[in-house]
Amino acid sequence: AEINLQEVHDLLVSIAHEAGKMIMSATPSYLSAGEKKNSADLVTETDQAVEAMVSSRLQTSYPQFSFIGEETFKPGVTKLTDAPTFIVDPIDGTTNFVHAFPAFCISLGFVVKKVPSVGVIYNPFLGELYTAIKGQGAYISRNGAPKEKLPLKQNPEPLKDLSTCLVGAEWGSDRTGSNFAIKCAVFAKLAASKEDGGAMVHSLRCMGSAALNIAAVATGQQDVFWEGGCWAWDVAAGWCLLSEAGGIMAGGNPGDWDPAIDGRKYLAVRAAPEGQKAIVEEMWAVIGDGR
Ligand code: IPD
Repeated sequence: AEINLQEVHDLLVSIAHEAGKMIMSATPSYLSAGEKKNSADLVTETDQAVEAMVSSRLQTSYPQFSFIGEETFKPGVTKLTDAPTFIVDPIDGTTNFVHAFPAFCISLGFVVKKVPSVGVIYNPFLGELYTAIKGQGAYISRNGAPKEKLPLKQNPEPLKDLSTCLVGAEWGSDRTGSNFAIKCAVFAKLAASKEDGGAMVHSLRCMGSAALNIAAVATGQQDVFWEGGCWAWDVAAGWCLLSEAGGIMAGGNPGDWDPAIDGRKYLAVRAAPEGQKAIVEEMWAVIGDGR
């Protein structure tokens, strides 16, 4: 039977609000936060409690659909198939959450045949709710106010070249070896002056949440977001939002979109009457091997 995406969307919005209450009533501290692979990869009891709540509500309403969540993902075991699948990050921006830096959210994606079909992202600290259904546009609602269509600037300017862009990029949690060296080189090339061989972007932003970075591109507040090392739960909801807002998500691994595949590179570019493809090309040229 045809899946009713509006019903899925409404359930995800309701779950996002419940998660928001759990997140805002928690009192995390960096001293009590646990580490996953290193001191830049944090997890709190709230991440786990929110994911348990989300998966049980989804299981109750849609027992026939698959579920992938950051905290219960098993490398080598969990696979993204063509089945309708919820892809969930209970708290994206956990580091911000433990430091009370106001950029963290719950990211709820729903994909059918690996195509992002519903996306709900909620930042409970700022009361910002981003929602999208495939084919029906992308929206933001602030503190329960009526929703506004994305991008917020209804006539976005053309994208000229990287030197006119505000670019989001992240350090991520992988701080070793060649991955880290590539990241540093990309940051330096983006920021450096043209005389020094750089692209001299307006500036770089590290917001600390991939989902909110993508939402900022969908909104038009950032022109570009690039990160190597994102997982499916960081991008699934944002991807739907971005496409519905007229932006594009380019991947370094076209055709491969699987949380188990290493080298997970994502490049988001905002809506523009022209210049999107040129920015993608310019970014890939800067990123080079980091692709
Ligand atoms: C992380 C954040 C961060 C990004 C990492 C993600 P988490 O998600 O989105 O900005 O750089 O790649 O894993 O761990 O806070 O859910």
